[in-house]
Amino acid sequence: KLKVVVIGGGSSYTPELIEGLINRHSELPVSELWLVDIEEGREKVNIISELAKRMIKHKGLHIDINVTLDRRLALKDADFVCSQFRAGCLEGRIRDERISLKYGMIGQETNGLGGFANACRTIPVTLQICREMEELCPNAWFLNFTNPSGMVTEAILKYTKIKAIGLCNVPVIMEKGISKILNASEGEFIMQVAGLNHLIWARKVLYQGDDKLDFIISEILKGNDPLVPSNIPPFEWPDDLLRKMGMIPCAYLRYYYMSDDIMKQEQAEANGEGTRGEVVKAIEKRLFDIYKNPALEEKPKELEKRGGQYYSEAACELMASIYNDKRKIMHVNTRNNGTISGLPDDCVVEVSSIITKNGPLPLNVEPFPDDTLRLIQLMKEFETLTVEAAVKGDLVAAKRGLILNPIVNTGTILDEALKETVFENLEHMPQF
Ligand code: NAD
Ligand code: G6P
Ligand code: MN
Ligand code: MN
Repeated sequence: KLKVVVIGGGSSYTPELIEGLINRHSELPVSELWLVDIEEGREKVNIISELAKRMIKHKGLHIDINVTLDRRLALKDADFVCSQFRAGCLEGRIRDERISLKYGMIGQETNGLGGFANACRTIPVTLQICREMEELCPNAWFLNFTNPSGMVTEAILKYTKIKAIGLCNVPVIMEKGISKILNASEGEFIMQVAGLNHLIWARKVLYQGDDKLDFIISEILKGNDPLVPSNIPPFEWPDDLLRKMGMIPCAYLRYYYMSDDIMKQEQAEANGEGTRGEVVKAIEKRLFDIYKNPALEEKPKELEKRGGQYYSEAACELMASIYNDKRKIMHVNTRNNGTISGLPDDCVVEVSSIITKNGPLPLNVEPFPDDTLRLIQLMKEFETLTVEAAVKGDLVAAKRGLILNPIVNTGTILDEALKETVFENLEHMPQF
C-alpha cells in the first residue's frame, strides 16, 4: 500500500496533482490519497475530492480518495506528505500585499515584507505537522510546496527530524522555456540552476556537447523569453546587465534588479484590477465553478492562469523518483552541504540534484561571481533570521533580517510596518 497525504487538499492546484498521479499510476501505484484541509476550506476540498474521483474513474483507475479535517488521522502511516496549504488563506496574502504597499514596499507573497509575514504564519503550522509526523509516520517524506518554500524547508530541516524536500515550479518553467528555445525535448539537455527559492540563476545548459547558456541569453534579449511564470508580467531585462552576467536570472530576480519599476507597476495594479492576491481570488472563483461541473473529468485549461502551473507535476515526478530510485536530475530545496560555496552548510538552497531513494544528491555549483554571491548571502541571512524569528517569536531577529533585505524599507517605516504585520496576524502568529 502506498499512502499519500496532501495538506491543503482544497487548493485549486490539486487537480494537477491528481493528473500527475494518474499519469504515473504504473510506476507510482498510490492506493490511498488523503486530502486534509481546515474548516475554511471544507467546501473547496469537497469539490476537489468529487472532481478527483471523477478524474480517476474516467481513466479506469482505483485510488481511494479520503477527505478529512482530522490531520492526525490522515498522517498515520503515510509514505509521502505533500504540503500545499496557505496559512491564513488568501485573505492573509492580500493583507500582506496591501500592508507592504501602504508602507511603500513591494507587496508580494514570497518576497520582502510579505515573504517574511507568510513565513511567520506558515512555519509554526509546518513544525506542528512535522511533530505529528515524528510520532505517526516518522519515515515519510515531506514534500513542501507551501510558500515561502525555501524558508519553510529550512525550518523543518533545522528544527525537526523529518526528511523534507522543498519544491518550486520556477525551475520547471525555466526548463520548459529553454526546451522551447532549443527546440529540444526535456530529456535531451541538462539545465543546472542554483541559488535560493525564487532567487535562482541557470548556471549551465548542456546540450549536445556545448553549454548553450550564451545562446539562450541572446534569444531572451531578442524578446524570446518563455521562461516567465504567469503570475509575473512579461518584462525585458536590462540588456547590458544580462549580457555580462553569463547566467539566466529567474523571473523573480526582477524584484531585486528592477525594484522601482515593479513598485510602480504594483501600485498601479493595486489601484486598478487589484493586487495579485485579489486577481487570484477571482481566478479561483471561476476555477471552482468549473470544477463543480459534474461533467468535468479532466484538469481544465483555466488553471494555466495561475502562476503555480506545473508544480504539482514536479511533485509527482519527485515522488516517483524517490519511490523508484530514478536518479533523475530535479531542482529542489535541500541542505547546502557545500554545494554553493560561500553559504553555511546547514542552510537550505535551491539546486539541481540527483533524486535518489535517499533523497536529493545536489550537484556541485561553479562559484558565483562576487556581486551575485553577495546578494545570495544577504538574502540567505534574511531567510535564516526570518526562520529564527518565526520559530522563536523573536522580533529583534525579525527586524535584523528585514533590514538586510534590499527590497524592504528601514527606519520608522519598518517599525510601523512590522508592528502592523504582527498585529493584523495575531491569530496566525502565536509565537509573537
Ligand atoms: P489556497 O489559498 O487555495 O490554499 C490551499 C488550501 O489550504 C485551502 O483549501 C485552505 O483552506 C487550506 N489551508 C489553509 N490553512 C490550512 C491548514 N492549517 N491546514 C490544512 N489546510 C489549510 O492556496 P493555493 O493558491 O492553492 O496555494 C497553496 C500553497 O502552495 C501556498 O502556500 C502557495 O504559495 C503554494 N504554492 C507554491 C508553489 C511553489 O512553487 N512551491 C506553486 C504554487 C503554489
Ligand atoms: C509561481 C511560484 C509559486 C507561487 C505562484 C503564485 O511562479 O513559483 O511559488 O505560489 O507562482 O501564483 P499565483 O497564481 O498564486 O499568483
Ligand atoms: Mn515557487
Ligand atoms: Mn533595504
